[in-house]
Amino acid sequence: MSFTVVDHPLIRHKLGFLRRSDTSTSKFRDLAREVTSLLTYEAFRDMELEPYTVKGWAGPVKVEKLSGKKVAVVPILRAGIGMLQGVLDIIPSARVNVVGLYRDEETAEPVYYYHKLSSDVENRLAVIIDPMLATGNSMVAAIDLLKKAGCRDIRAICMVAAPEGMKCVEDAHPDVRVFAAALDDKLNEVKYILPGLGDAGDRLFGTK
Ligand code: URA
Repeated sequence: MSFTVVDHPLIRHKLGFLRRSDTSTSKFRDLAREVTSLLTYEAFRDMELEPYTVKGWAGPVKVEKLSGKKVAVVPILRAGIGMLQGVLDIIPSARVNVVGLYRDEETAEPVYYYHKLSSDVENRLAVIIDPMLATGNSMVAAIDLLKKAGCRDIRAICMVAAPEGMKCVEDAHPDVRVFAAALDDKLNEVKYILPGLGDAGDRLFGTK
């Protein structure tokens, strides 16, 4: 796996507000969307282009268009939904393929309950979105599921990662590239990231 922290000043600035405990739900949601767009920009830096010619105001102009695989964006429910619009703002044609996993509060293990994938997902570049890469177990389960469906080109975007989660994904799926806004210090005793953001789902949906 290659793990990239995208430490652009705009991301670092917005991450500061995401970390503040007094940031409101609606502001947190806006910031998550904005940070995700910036991360998406970086995560797709290597997209293939092909040249073509258009009729411009002063005659023919050579331009470029995307020519590689089409994209499937894969939010891990529920918190991944908070990043979805940020990807779609940049790649509006992406198909949305959800994977339902929740964290068992006692064991911190992911529990699978649902997925819905495009019929052609195996031909798409799949980008999994989940705000918090904590233990890494949910991310590994989502990657397992996509690989079982035939996907070969998979990457992941998170807002904040823990070293434990990074290692877990790296050990299980060394071919998957992960992009994050920050690599934090560690997990606490109940597997939340420190300093982290808190419970990203609760902060996005106002369910605390
Ligand atoms: N899930 C969260 O929402 N936050 C964490 O810190 C870890 C997992």
